[in-house]
Amino acid sequence: MEIGLKVLHYFAILFAGGVTVGSTIMQSAYVRAGEVPPPHVGKAFALLGYIGLGSILTLWITGIGLAHLLYGGLGINGAFHAKLLGAAIVLGASLFGNIHMHGAMKAKRPPNAALMKRLVQLGRGGIALAIIAAAVAFSA
Ligand code: HEM
Repeated sequence: MEIGLKVLHYFAILFAGGVTVGSTIMQSAYVRAGEVPPPHVGKAFALLGYIGLGSILTLWITGIGLAHLLYGGLGINGAFHAKLLGAAIVLGASLFGNIHMHGAMKAKRPPNAALMKRLVQLGRGGIALAIIAAAVAFSA
């Protein structure tokens, strides 16, 4: 059980990080070229968004499971709370970005590039905070 949750937690970190790096590189390529992504690339962006949201939800589910299994709850230490803040920022940014992207695609208009860029930056900061705080929280 513990090993399974950890493996899923680590895979979800891999996917959340991959989506963040991939979206940043793709977004900046389009911004530099001054172009709006064509619809099929827009769909690929939306898929990245769903994978990111799926990953962060998996991080929360497996993380809550691990915290209860190994530490008897979420009150582990101060650094763990900073990690949860980082994870909450990532969840919020991902949810908001997915809702915005979904609405834009439904209305057949391009998503707000400046807003999406901000959200990706926010998500990146949240992941960085969560990783650094995890290192602190789980070090002797
Ligand atoms: C962006 C989100 C997250 C990132 C980047 C992240 C990162 C990490 C990393 C790198 C570890 C390995 C640390 C170690 O074992 O030394 C870890 C383990 C763990 N994480 Fe997360 N995590 C995230 C979200 C969460 C959430 C939301 C929770 C709980 C609600 C959580 C709870 C845990 C627990 C309990 C462990 C196991 C520690 C142990 O093995 O003793 N994580 N996480």
